[in-house]
Amino acid sequence: MELENLRQYFESKLREFTEKEYPKNSRLSEAIFYALCGQGKRVRPLLVLMMCESLGGKKEQAIEAAIALEMIHTYSLVHDDMPLLDNDSLRRGRKTVHVVYDEQTALLVGNSLLTDAFFLLTKSENLSSLQKEQMVGELSLASGSKGMLLGQSLDLYWTSRNDYTKEDLDHIHLKKTGALLGCACALGSIAAGISDQSFLDSCKKLGELVGQSFQITDDLLDESDKTGKSLGKDKEQDKLTYLKIYDKRTCEKEARDLTAEALSVFSSLPLVHSHPLSSFFSSLLDRKF
Ligand code: IPE
Ligand code: IPE
Ligand code: MG
Ligand code: MG
Ligand code: MG
Repeated sequence: MELENLRQYFESKLREFTEKEYPKNSRLSEAIFYALCGQGKRVRPLLVLMMCESLGGKKEQAIEAAIALEMIHTYSLVHDDMPLLDNDSLRRGRKTVHVVYDEQTALLVGNSLLTDAFFLLTKSENLSSLQKEQMVGELSLASGSKGMLLGQSLDLYWTSRNDYTKEDLDHIHLKKTGALLGCACALGSIAAGISDQSFLDSCKKLGELVGQSFQITDDLLDESDKTGKSLGKDKEQDKLTYLKIYDKRTCEKEARDLTAEALSVFSSLPLVHSHPLSSFFSSLLDRKF
């Protein structure tokens, strides 16, 4: 399925799920609805769906995993924006959850999304018990203390420090962003019926490389006014980013090289339809928001 159709499919399924699960009958439920239905790019769930289709699976087999991953990503953003972490008041073109509601609610929105994502996966009627077990394993590993949360912790550790190396920066990116994109590719493959661990590891590797490239582009866009986020926060907070180490052209080259490496891992996999996914990877390099 073409990217635009897949995006519309995901948005309509996410909306259906959110309206059913989070009716506006409590402050918490209303705030979760607000967080999930903002204008996100939906990169991670689209990767899940495209990966599944590339391997000959159907999008319906992967939709719960796609929604679960977007829930975990959204939780990470809600917490990332809180005053304790990045202290941001703008996200997806509108006020952040803790600004519209309050910090207590934002904390609980994040915790709810994280927990509810696993509930959604385990009650799926489209997945076998083995697929659920594999997905729960991949998703918890990628989001927990060896994955995205480790990345968030390293990001904080390296803020306002100057004794870093490029390896330290790459490690932050691999964990805080690469882990969830790697997981997206693994979930799409599991949904398509793949259970071979070495195949899943190659899928994860390619998603991680795309994630590292994606994060460099995010760093580059920090000074742009089109992202729906506050301008220049990385510099203001002295975050360790690619722009702290390199000039813009070098950053762009690093991002391109990582995407090229991802495409080469991708082309080594026996995929059924490769075109939409490889052009999606390339399009992420040129994004303006
Ligand atoms: C923002 O992710 C956080 C990063 C890892 C760069 P996205 O840029 O995918 O955010 P949304 O989902 O489109 O808002
Ligand atoms: C966030 O990285 C990665 C997450 C796990 C949320 P950033 O802090 O750079 O993301 P933005 O710029 O706030 O979206
Ligand atoms: Mg952050
Ligand atoms: Mg942030
Ligand atoms: Mg950023």
